Amino acid sequence: MARTAAPPRPRSAPSPRSSNQSRANATQLYPTKNDLPESSRINAIGLLNQRLADCIDLQTQCKQAHWNVKGADFIALHKLFDEINEEVEEYVDLLAERVVQLGGIAEGTARAVAGRTSLQEYPLNLSSGAEHVDALSDALAQFGRTARIGIEEMNELEDADSADILTEISRGTDKWLWFVEAHLQGESTFKAE
Ligand SMILES: [Fe+2]
Repeated sequence: MARTAAPPRPRSAPSPRSSNQSRANATQLYPTKNDLPESSRINAIGLLNQRLADCIDLQTQCKQAHWNVKGADFIALHKLFDEINEEVEEYVDLLAERVVQLGGIAEGTARAVAGRTSLQEYPLNLSSGAEHVDALSDALAQFGRTARIGIEEMNELEDADSADILTEISRGTDKWLWFVEAHLQGESTFKAE
């Protein structure tokens, strides 16, 4: 069986700008014929790896809620949380593969994610539907915020495709936030002008 050629070794690239978000492993770059400027790709890779960490963290939080929710709304919330998990997994793939398209290395291991995520840690001792709805809506809101910031950052880098991916992700995240938050909203919580 013929051996495939070894992939080209990534070469060192200049350090990304000094923000924490872009310090994510953007120091190695594979050659690509993608015509986005190298400096833009380096910065985009760092920022996308940051969002990737947030997104994988969010996905595990959805599963944590799916597995552990209890109470009268069990079956509805159990199914909803898994539906969100499945779509968030697609967001994970979009982000990771965009990193690689730009010549970077997608950093999606549990250990890399744990050290980089900007989301709050999901409490392990939650039980009721209300508790999980509250915690997961927090996580979705935090992630939606970072995705929206990411859109602006990608626009600044003139990377329209990464901005488009983050726009798709933030639009979906807002939808899921609505689905989850609706469990907290009712006549008693409606604030009239
Ligand atoms: Fe399941």
